[in-house]
Amino acid sequence: MQEAGEVLRRGGLVAFPTETVYGLGGDALNPASSKKIYEAKGRPSDNPLIVHIARMEDLAPIVKEVTEEARRIAEAFWPGPLTMILPKAEKVPYETTGGLETVAVRMPSHPVAQKLILCGGGYVAAPSANLSGRPSPTTAKYVIEDMDGRIDMILDGGEGDIGLESTIVDLTVSPPQILRPGYITQDMLTQVLGQVGVDRTILEADSGQAPRAPGMKYRHYAPRGELTIISGLAEQVTAYINARAEEDQAAGHKVGVIGTDEVLPQYRADIVRSLGSRQDEDSIARHLYAILREFDDEQVTRIYSECFEATGLGQAIMNRLLKAAGHKLIVLDGNREA
Ligand code: TXA
Ligand code: MG
Repeated sequence: MQEAGEVLRRGGLVAFPTETVYGLGGDALNPASSKKIYEAKGRPSDNPLIVHIARMEDLAPIVKEVTEEARRIAEAFWPGPLTMILPKAEKVPYETTGGLETVAVRMPSHPVAQKLILCGGGYVAAPSANLSGRPSPTTAKYVIEDMDGRIDMILDGGEGDIGLESTIVDLTVSPPQILRPGYITQDMLTQVLGQVGVDRTILEADSGQAPRAPGMKYRHYAPRGELTIISGLAEQVTAYINARAEEDQAAGHKVGVIGTDEVLPQYRADIVRSLGSRQDEDSIARHLYAILREFDDEQVTRIYSECFEATGLGQAIMNRLLKAAGHKLIVLDGNREA
């Protein structure tokens, strides 16, 4: 950890585990480090980075003001998978915030992340440690696939607990607004803050509005295969997917299915993978990105996925799935397609 901290202090890059996904870390207060992060990811440099801290007293120096709302949600959810947006202090370079006057801050709970941040000087800028256009890495193996040869060091902390990126809440507006759904749900935030809104662009396919988290405007991860999400009663969905899979296979496609334990044996396709039990949203969140990566590696050309309820953690799961599918959703209603 000392060595990794040294790398950061010298302006180098270290990938590290967090409780959500692996991060690609650099010194957040060093403009040259942030530039290197964009290069390594192949990511546009107007897409701001999240600054990771390990101690509450490190928040005040990088924001204009630690507001009452910030204090309350930090107390409730830090360390943990929650990122807050606040007006930035001068100390934070524009290279880190993508030119914005605001800064995104998160205190991760993973012990390796915390130790690295402390050894590295207290402020670690880190996007997810994937190449731009690939799913966020949930194990060190995927970080190596994307980043080997591009960065100085990778810390292996095993599989991430949550598997989806942190919830982002914007505290510069009133009421606060969720810009990216995650493990900390709207309900959980509402309990602490009173009213909390959700950015309209999050679940709507085409709201006509530009998303407020700049990262959400880029064509996000899209699998190499064409992904379609199917919504309906379980028997309808399996029957529909099997019929489409058969047609696709006849046309020469390699077909992958993303399902759940309850109905998995009923699917017929080239590769059938389960996200876990429908009763266990945590498992669904944890396995989604790994399955999408596997389908890319296996050069699957058509992918069908079951649909999940868009409440609680399901909101984050559906948000990532819909983005990966380019919002291709088929709703089965009786025998009709809507
Ligand atoms: O769980 C996570 O948050 C992971 C781990 C590594 O901590 N990090 C992560 O970073 O997901 P990244 O760069 O992949 O996503 C950061 C998102 C982007 O959509 C970006 O646009 C948004 O946060 N963001 C960062 N700063 C912002 C700001 N000042 N205002 C609005 N959105 C911001
Ligand atoms: Mg990312």
